Amino acid sequence: MSLSPVAGVGKARRGLHMITWGCQMNVYDSARMTDVLRPLGYTPVDNPADADMVILNTCHIRDRAAEKVFSELGRLRVIKDERRAEGRETVLAVAGCVAQAEGEQILKRAPYVDIVLGPQTYHRLPEMVARAARAGGSVIDTDFPAEQKFDFLPQDAAPQTAGNVSAFLTVQEGCDKFCSFCVVPYTRGAEASRPVVSVLAEARRMVAGGVREITLLGQNVNAYHGEGPDGGVWGLARLAYALAEIPGLDRIRYMTSHPRDMDDALIMAHRDLPALMPFLHLPVQSGSDSILKAMNRGHTADDYRRLVDRLREARPDLALSSDFIVGHPGETDEDFEATMRLIGDVGFALAYSFKYSVRPGTPAAGAPLQVAETVKDQRLQALQALLREQQDDFNGSVVDRVAPVLFTGRGRKPGQMVGRSPWLQAVHVDGSDDLVGTVCPVLITTRLSNSLAGHLIEECALA
Ligand code: 5AD
Ligand code: SF4
Repeated sequence: MSLSPVAGVGKARRGLHMITWGCQMNVYDSARMTDVLRPLGYTPVDNPADADMVILNTCHIRDRAAEKVFSELGRLRVIKDERRAEGRETVLAVAGCVAQAEGEQILKRAPYVDIVLGPQTYHRLPEMVARAARAGGSVIDTDFPAEQKFDFLPQDAAPQTAGNVSAFLTVQEGCDKFCSFCVVPYTRGAEASRPVVSVLAEARRMVAGGVREITLLGQNVNAYHGEGPDGGVWGLARLAYALAEIPGLDRIRYMTSHPRDMDDALIMAHRDLPALMPFLHLPVQSGSDSILKAMNRGHTADDYRRLVDRLREARPDLALSSDFIVGHPGETDEDFEATMRLIGDVGFALAYSFKYSVRPGTPAAGAPLQVAETVKDQRLQALQALLREQQDDFNGSVVDRVAPVLFTGRGRKPGQMVGRSPWLQAVHVDGSDDLVGTVCPVLITTRLSNSLAGHLIEECALA
């Protein structure tokens, strides 16, 4: 590879094309990688043909992830060759959980890849670009370094959120729960929390840049236990209270939570902290005790029901969302019926559901009694039909009510603006750009297939 030396390239403009798969953590990480590359002159471009660097930020959580990555790499290789024929080089990097899990395999199958980096080492990306340029070979970095990647991120004015009203902020990484089916503990490593001071500083920078809503992210966000300014350990509830003190920060959300880590302080925060939005993603995965046990979830279906009762007692308008897996090894018709009963009992505003799929190296992969694909298909269909009905009912239940909407931008049609209700529903109204960044009361009049429409009921005080 014949890149110009990277040291001192601060002035040269280079195109960066980022392809992001998977969860919000990856969306956040992609923004962070963009930030750490900015001082090297990289700015985002939409077209990979214009890019001096392409990063695939991959997700390994579900089916055929690696295959999707290799097929995308095949396409990018053509672009890389075409650019090279014109005398332009392209750095190809694979990041994220597939990079962590497959490591060397990626370079074996796709030797034209320049950099393979796991989620723990994004702060080292500039150094890797330099190394790849110098060595003219591929660089692989999938360590779990002892230093916190959080400590190395740019400290300037949160450029990735410029102009955004709603932003993600990672406060916790990794997972020690080892659910039977899941790769996250292997790809993202052990649970680690970012210190409170650094979270608050980033939140303040975001708010100064116009952010009004922050979603705290973590694979196990409610297991947050960050070092407090007082030297003690702060939980997520305490962090939320401190964030709520930041003037201009109207809304706080967090995901993804584990039922086991939903402590009293956090439940009480839902009662006492108006900025904490009444929408909670709390995956339960199954409603059968024997499957929950096989999954190593550490709670029963009734534990979950009781937890939901307590949450709703604290915040009666709380809406819940969840993840479900059908066809985990050993799941019988009775187990599946128990899941359908749990859904019926709880009532979900939103849910994501998946057929179990084998992740090599996880305990469930080698378990006996794998469920036939046709059975998984049938169960998934029935489950999704019920969840869809609940979602439609929930969205219908806000029609004819007034809801505060945080406006985030323009809608698809001219003269239309879009925002979010407290329950994360997209709401469209007729209005002007002045609305962006404000919370206004909206009378919801119509339920559309995946959003709501309504109209402003009073002049909104502009921020
Ligand atoms: N098969 C199917 N679904 C899975 N998930 C995680 N691993 C698997 C797997 N092996 C789902 C879980 C998790 C969500 C992010 O992805 O429901 O909560
Ligand atoms: Fe995976 Fe379970 Fe950890 Fe969630 S709690 S990231 S499903 S191991």
